[in-house]
Amino acid sequence: MQDAELIAALNADLCREYEIAAHYLYHVYSATGQESAACLEALRARVAAEMAHADQLARLIVALGGRPTLRSPRPAGGDALADLLARGLALEEALIAGYEERCRQAAEDPALRAVLARMLDEERRHAAEIEALLPSRGDLASAAPPAELPPLTAVA
Ligand SMILES: [Fe+2]
Repeated sequence: MQDAELIAALNADLCREYEIAAHYLYHVYSATGQESAACLEALRARVAAEMAHADQLARLIVALGGRPTLRSPRPAGGDALADLLARGLALEEALIAGYEERCRQAAEDPALRAVLARMLDEERRHAAEIEALLPSRGDLASAAPPAELPPLTAVA
């Protein structure tokens, strides 16, 4: 794979990392009262974890001779906690798909692949933690948010 192609793909991942960090941060700043203090702290920790990924991606991009993007999509989704979790899961899944592809693309660079594989493992863990808090996935499109969701205490 050409470095330019990989740099472009890593910049797309970087955009997603910015988006998911902003998504969680938006909900920390606009908490509606349905979130527990533990949930808000968990979301703050998630912001830090996603920004650490953004930092790692930017360093990889520079090491490959590229320039890290500052482009960041606006966070989308409703204000309800169930919406937050559903959108967060969708973003985590997009990051997982991206890092799976990036690991394949970096197959000939073991050091780069190792960094990406670690980030992939972390995103899989994040997604599993959020998914565990959601109602059954088939219900998400049609069901109203549950009256009460457990706090995000399992999210690290
Ligand atoms: Fe991330």
